[in-house]
Amino acid sequence: MEVEEILCYNSRMDFWDNLSGGFSCLAPMEGVTDMVFRQVVARAGRPDVFFTEFTNVNSFVSEEGRYNALERFRFLPEEQPIVAQIWGKVPEYFGVTARGLKDLGYGAVDVNMGCPDKHVVAGGGGSGLIRTPELAVEIIRGTKRAGLPVSVKTRLGYARVDEWKDWISLLLKQDLAALTVHLRTKKEMSKVEAHFELVPEIVAVRDELAPRTKLIINGDIKTPGEGQRFVDMGVDGLMIGRGVFADPFCFEKVPASHSREELMGLLKYHLDLFDEYKLMSFEPLKRFFKIYVNGYYGAAEIREKLMRCKTTDEVRGIIGA
Ligand SMILES: Cc1cc2nc3c(=O)[nH]c(=O)nc-3n(C[C@H](O)[C@H](O)[C@H](O)COP(=O)(O)O)c2cc1C
Repeated sequence: MEVEEILCYNSRMDFWDNLSGGFSCLAPMEGVTDMVFRQVVARAGRPDVFFTEFTNVNSFVSEEGRYNALERFRFLPEEQPIVAQIWGKVPEYFGVTARGLKDLGYGAVDVNMGCPDKHVVAGGGGSGLIRTPELAVEIIRGTKRAGLPVSVKTRLGYARVDEWKDWISLLLKQDLAALTVHLRTKKEMSKVEAHFELVPEIVAVRDELAPRTKLIINGDIKTPGEGQRFVDMGVDGLMIGRGVFADPFCFEKVPASHSREELMGLLKYHLDLFDEYKLMSFEPLKRFFKIYVNGYYGAAEIREKLMRCKTTDEVRGIIGA
């Protein structure tokens, strides 16, 4: 360990240390978990930790990409604790980006080592790093130079499930603040069920190699309640992604059922924030409508009308906002 890292390690006491067992995280989701949608989730029932969608370090360090990267990193103070997720393959760029994130007010940074997207992998980033472990270690070191707590989100392996032990052990030896394991390989994408059967073994390896590193599991967990059995096995945190599409209230501390009017209220809130912050164009906004207009007689017809809209005011006209 370098002197810089030892100092960073010894003085490390950050929000990760203060989280109690069974904490919940909203998964990073590109094109979904921008500041606007995170506000919607916060109103419905906030998770203990937010993650941003991932942003390429190349864009953060380049003049052309910087404006867009800064837009993607927008957040509100009340979202803390929030973790900025970054990806790429050049260790120095990770250091520069992490320092920039610190200046922006972020208290933690997460490195994506799990994305299976073919463009990301072809460029050597995301789950491509599972195949270049030495580079992965260099990237973690580079990111740590900014002095923020560093976490990693990854998968079990690249092509085979049995890669997990070497890969996860290597990551756990890097003194990470937290490690999120999506319980599938890159090759499995999201096509097979998450390998929940491995949780006790992964917990045992974490306990042996890095008892201070928070272990977060991810994949197919729809609510914190559903994931409680893994907390009982020694997991620290539960990360939920697509569960918010099925139920935007899924992070509520006391689960309750919600009326159609409450869902419409969330949609109105989403539209207002969309207009206020203008973080995306109208077309991709349409992907969110199914979250709010779903599960009752006539919902499909309303959605069909919403999909033909071109402005938020047209949407408001249909839902009577
Ligand atoms: C639309 C979408 C975008 C995603 N973008 C990211 C991302 O930017 N960074 C990341 O680490 N994972 C990303 N993921 C993966 C999720 O964070 C999560 O690992 C995956 O959906 C499995 O968890 P779940 O079953 O709770 O959804 C994305 C997933 C989806 C569905």
